[in-house]
Amino acid sequence: MNSPEIVTTIVALRSRIAAWRANGARLGLVPTMGALHEGHLALVRETGNRADKVIVSIFVNPAQFAPHEDFDRYPRALQSDCKKLTDAADLVFAPSVEEMYPRGFATQIDVGGPSAGLETDFRPHFFGGVATVVAKLLIAAMPDFAMFGEKDYQQLLVIRRLTADLGLPIEILGGVIVREADGLALSSRNAYLTPQERKIAGQLNLILKEAIAKLRGGMAVVESETFGTKALRDAGFDPVDYVAVRDAATLEKINDLSRPARILAAAKIGGTRLIDNMAV
Ligand code: PAJ
Repeated sequence: MNSPEIVTTIVALRSRIAAWRANGARLGLVPTMGALHEGHLALVRETGNRADKVIVSIFVNPAQFAPHEDFDRYPRALQSDCKKLTDAADLVFAPSVEEMYPRGFATQIDVGGPSAGLETDFRPHFFGGVATVVAKLLIAAMPDFAMFGEKDYQQLLVIRRLTADLGLPIEILGGVIVREADGLALSSRNAYLTPQERKIAGQLNLILKEAIAKLRGGMAVVESETFGTKALRDAGFDPVDYVAVRDAATLEKINDLSRPARILAAAKIGGTRLIDNMAV
């Protein structure tokens, strides 16, 4: 049984990594906000298959939460997270807010392109906060590759754009979405759902599948989006932020399925906001 070492400063992170690099190790990084579930752990295991050393960062990043959002009540479980990483990760980087954002911190990374629309329409602060913290993590660790889940599909594309644009020599890999038996995508926020809300939540993936079936059957893109939105409302989601069919590579709007497409949705049940997406 190998428990991962925990470091809390960038200096300590860099010194561990420098030693591994000197030995020629291939390094993989999995950035997370903790409260680890099977979705995160699948990314960590996949990283272990491709790397000699696996680094997991655990940091609930205040910059990606708006003041009215759930930063304070976001689940934090460093001890049990580290247990879950036994034999799966070599190093956990768990910095404080002050370590990542020291007094006077004044830089924000603003990615265009795939950030436009969808999540940004409802969480305008979000990708600025994500891009800034992920850039810091990538630069601090300088891994050979980093893995992100397709669960946050727009985020994955934003991070790919960021890495390419900054010329970071780091490969960005996407991991498939891990789901519960009824298809609900695993999420740390699922813990907020009451049993009744949890039942409704299971409809989200089914409705996306129905919309895909309709698209494949010839329904127009706009109509499939309207269908999905109405079906989510009827199932008990309120509000439905979006159901959108987009170009899978750029997230640009499309009118037909002549290029690979992705259907993406975000909706709330009670106070809990859920997102999901699938290849069309
Ligand atoms: P977090 O929500 O903790 O997710 C960490 C990583 O796990 C992300 O890449 C996310 O897409 C992936 N993930 C979450 N649920 C998943 C599931 N059911 N199946 C597969 N992968 C899943 O995303 C963040 O943290 C933050 O925005 C972060 C990138 C760490 C920046 O703060």
